[in-house]
Amino acid sequence: MNYNIAVVRGDGIGPEVIEQALLVLQKVGKKFGHTFQCQDVLAGGAAIDATGMALPQETIDVCKASDAVLLGAVGGPKWDNLPGDQRPEQALLGLRKELGLFANLRPAILFEDLIDACPLKPELVEGGLDIVVVRELTGGIYFGDRGLKDGPMGKTAYDIEEYSEEEVRRIAKVAFEMAMKRNKHVTSVDKANVLETSRLWRRVVAEVAADYPQVTLNHMYVDNAAMQLVRAPRQFDVMVTSNLFGDILSDEASMVAGSIGMLPSASLAKGNFGMYEPAHGSAPDLAGQDKANPMATILSVAMMLRYTFGLLKEARAVEKAVEKVLHNGYRTPDLYQPPDSNPLATAMSMISLPIAGAFGTQTLIGTKQAGKLVSAEI
Ligand SMILES: NC(=O)c1ccc[n+]([C@@H]2O[C@H](COP(=O)([O-])OP(=O)(O)OC[C@H]3O[C@@H](n4cnc5c(N)ncnc54)[C@H](O)[C@@H]3O)[C@@H](O)[C@H]2O)c1
Repeated sequence: MNYNIAVVRGDGIGPEVIEQALLVLQKVGKKFGHTFQCQDVLAGGAAIDATGMALPQETIDVCKASDAVLLGAVGGPKWDNLPGDQRPEQALLGLRKELGLFANLRPAILFEDLIDACPLKPELVEGGLDIVVVRELTGGIYFGDRGLKDGPMGKTAYDIEEYSEEEVRRIAKVAFEMAMKRNKHVTSVDKANVLETSRLWRRVVAEVAADYPQVTLNHMYVDNAAMQLVRAPRQFDVMVTSNLFGDILSDEASMVAGSIGMLPSASLAKGNFGMYEPAHGSAPDLAGQDKANPMATILSVAMMLRYTFGLLKEARAVEKAVEKVLHNGYRTPDLYQPPDSNPLATAMSMISLPIAGAFGTQTLIGTKQAGKLVSAEI
C-alpha cells in the first residue's frame, strides 16, 4: 500500500527527532512492503523565517491532501518576542482547527525496563502500564463564551462550558473504537454529580456503549479519577473525557512514563485522518547536540500506523523495537541513571556521545544512535 504523509519538522529538536522517526518508518515500509511518501512542509518558527507566517496556506493544503501529518515541535527563543498571535505555536492551533482534529490521544506507557524512572511505587506499576487518555479537543470550556463583567462583588470573569450530543458522541466513538483494539475497557470521566454538561456527557457515552457490547464501560468522577491514577493506575485502559478534564488528567497520567521524551500523541479528525507528534516541545536547550530522546516521535509513528493506517502488526513491531532497545540497556540522557558510585559514569552521563559497553547495565546513547537501534530491531 502507498501512504502519503505531510511532515512538519519544525524547530529546535523537531528536525532531529523527525529524522530518526522517518528512519524507523522507512524500515517498516521495507519490511512489511508499504510505501510511505513523505512531503516536507513548513510550520512554526521555520515557516516564519521562510515566509513570514507560522502556518502558510500551502502547509494547510498539503496536510489536507495527505493521509496523515507527522510533526516534530515548534517554537523557540528566537521567536519569543513576537506578538502572541504571530508566534510559532499559533501553527498548532491553526492546524487543529483547519484539520478538524477533535480527539486528542495521549498514551501513558511505562515500559517495564523504565520502572525505576517512574515516580510511583514499583508495586503499583509492576509489569508496566499502558493507559490512553482520549481528550475532547475542540469543544467545552476552552471554546465557550467568555468574558469579564461588573458584578456585586467587583469584576467578575466567566467561561462557559457547552457540549452538544454530537460532540460527545464522536469522541466517545473514538474511545470505544480504541478500546476494541486494546483491552476493551473504557472509563468515562466527568463530574455528573454537579455539572449539567457532565450529565449529558454521561448519558451520551452510555448510549454509544450500547453499540460496543464487548467493551466494559465505567463512569468515574474526575476528582476520584485523579486520585485513582496514582493509587491504582493499572485499573485503566482507555479514559475518555472533556477538554478541560483531559488536559489535566493526561498530564497526570503522562508522569508515569518516566520522561517526556517517551510520550507520543495523536490528534484525530473524522475518518482516519490524524496528526501525530511527540508530547514534548522543541527543547531549545538540547537542540543540535544529539541529546534528544527520539522515542516519543518514533512511538507517534507507531500510533499513526495503528490509528490512521490500521497497520496493527506494523505498529506493534515499532513498539516492540523500542521495548527491545530499552531492555538491552540503551538510554538517552533523559533516561540515563548512572551508578552514583562511579564518578566517571556520572561525568560521562553529561555528554551525549554513544559509549559502547558503558557502565553496569546501561549504555548512554545519543538521538541518532537511538533511531538507528530502534530501526535495526524492526
Ligand atoms: N507541540 C509543540 O510543538 C510544543 C509543545 C510544547 C512546547 N512547545 C514549545 O517548545 C519550546 C520549549 O518549551 P518548553 O521548554 O516549555 O518544553 P519542552 O518540552 O521543549 O522542554 C521541557 C523539558 O523537557 C526536556 N525535553 C523535551 N523533549 C525532550 C526529549 N525528546 N528528550 C529529552 N528531553 C526532552 C527539555 O530539555 C526541557 O528540559 C517553547 O517555544 C514552547 O512554546 C512546543
